Amino acid sequence: MARIIIHTAKRPYRYTTQKGEDVWICMCGLSDTYPICSGKHKICAAEKEEILAYDQDANKIEINLPAEILQKIRRV
Ligand code: FES
Repeated sequence: MARIIIHTAKRPYRYTTQKGEDVWICMCGLSDTYPICSGKHKICAAEKEEILAYDQDANKIEINLPAEILQKIRRV
């Protein structure tokens, strides 16, 4: 089953392990090393409040879903 997951974060979440090491968790969904941040969030840093889609190589692609469907999509 296919799923559409919308990420609205534009930067990673810093998690500090019990050993005191910082691990950067990808919150944008574009990381090459998901769930660890790879720095690709810089691609979406300038996004405005519109819904954009990316392919697996982080290239923007057009999505043409009806507005009533877009409003029902859960945002993460
Ligand atoms: S937060 Fe996704 S690549 Fe950095």
